[in-house]
Amino acid sequence: MAERETWATRLGFILAAVGSAVGLGNLWQFPFKTSAEGGAAFVFVYLIAAFLIGLPAILGEFVIGRRANINAVEAFDRLKHPAWTVVGAIGLLTGLWILSYYSVVGGWVIRFIVDSATGAYFTDPGGHFGDVSMGWAAIGLHGLFMATTAVIVAFGVEKGIEKATRLMVPSILVMLVGLAVYAFTLDGSGPAYGYYLSPDFDYLANNFGSIVPFAVSQAFFSLSLGMGAMITYASYLGDDDSLPADGSLIVVLNTAVGLLAGLVVIPLLFVQFGSVPDVAAGGGPDALFVGVSQVFADLGLAGRVFGVAFFGVVLIAALSSAISLLEVATSYVVDNYGYNRPVTAFGFAGAIFALGTLSAWNIAWLGWFDSLAYSVLLPVSVLLVVIFVGWVYGPEAVDEIKKGTDGGGTFATAWLWSIRTYVLAGVFVTLYLGVTDIYAAPPIPFL
Ligand code: PHE
Repeated sequence: MAERETWATRLGFILAAVGSAVGLGNLWQFPFKTSAEGGAAFVFVYLIAAFLIGLPAILGEFVIGRRANINAVEAFDRLKHPAWTVVGAIGLLTGLWILSYYSVVGGWVIRFIVDSATGAYFTDPGGHFGDVSMGWAAIGLHGLFMATTAVIVAFGVEKGIEKATRLMVPSILVMLVGLAVYAFTLDGSGPAYGYYLSPDFDYLANNFGSIVPFAVSQAFFSLSLGMGAMITYASYLGDDDSLPADGSLIVVLNTAVGLLAGLVVIPLLFVQFGSVPDVAAGGGPDALFVGVSQVFADLGLAGRVFGVAFFGVVLIAALSSAISLLEVATSYVVDNYGYNRPVTAFGFAGAIFALGTLSAWNIAWLGWFDSLAYSVLLPVSVLLVVIFVGWVYGPEAVDEIKKGTDGGGTFATAWLWSIRTYVLAGVFVTLYLGVTDIYAAPPIPFL
């Protein structure tokens, strides 16, 4: 067998992983969940989860990927634990489930690029979202987003996207900082900062059961965990890379983008809705769109230019994530069954498109798909990976994580200890609370 390719540079890997991690999870989901789930209390749990659970877990996926050197499903087989391939399969299916509505949101982004150019939402940004987010047009744009993703995966032209992600991360940061500063200067944004940055611990204590599953799963989602993506990316890593160093950088960058997006969207929601209860109610899946489009509308002609640029960058971020989701399933089928790559990519894309039409038809379905992913699928998938790395693969995992670091023995031991104990417990509690939450109020639309 030919030697498998590896990333040409350390930066190449980091950029690809960041390209996967930074996406609608940071820009769209994080601000709206924060505004709806109690502001800073949510952010507080999210930050703990990202660094204390997310970082050890992402290192776990890196270990599996680099050691196995193959796609996320067969990886477990390669590591001589064939029964665990089911974990890879669960991750793959979780990713496809999520992609079905991710793509619908991607369709909205395309819509807002066009509508920024024409100024279509300028007279009524809030109402406009309601008009375009559901129905035939939304289905069409969901199809366009999915087709674009499939074309890129089918023809292996990720190279182009990799180049785009090089520019994407800096340009996202610049735009978010610019918008955050602008939002700060607007009348009415003041109360947002307390709500967003100063946690109300009583609120957290009283709503622990609903905040925790959402905040922890938000960290998983945002870091692309539990869906095989990080396993796949790390399979192209060479032994001289330091996993802890790369992992930390990825977590820091990804968290920074999410926090900045919140610093843009939440103040803008306060400007429009005034006070906390209205912000929480108004901060649904439309928050990003309604929040920023009001700004672009107010800026008139310049707003058209900024609007196209802003949603354009959001689209690149969304595509680079969607590609990594579709790639997990495609590379597995191509490697394992020898199917033709374009046929496989389009086959999956067609099925995901069909599933996503529900979410594009009615936003209540989107909420349902999202809840199930957050409350059950993501925690289950991450829990299984953590159990595997900690208790099944343990000592060999320590071996692998030490490679490419100077010494690193103490870190490796502490890492394994964390995976075996509190990380495992934390993910378990998340799953337990998520299942209870969903069981108490099954969010099945129209029932
Ligand atoms: N992390 C991406 C985001 O925040 C979503 C994603 C998950 C992408 C899993 C790939 C794999 O948007």
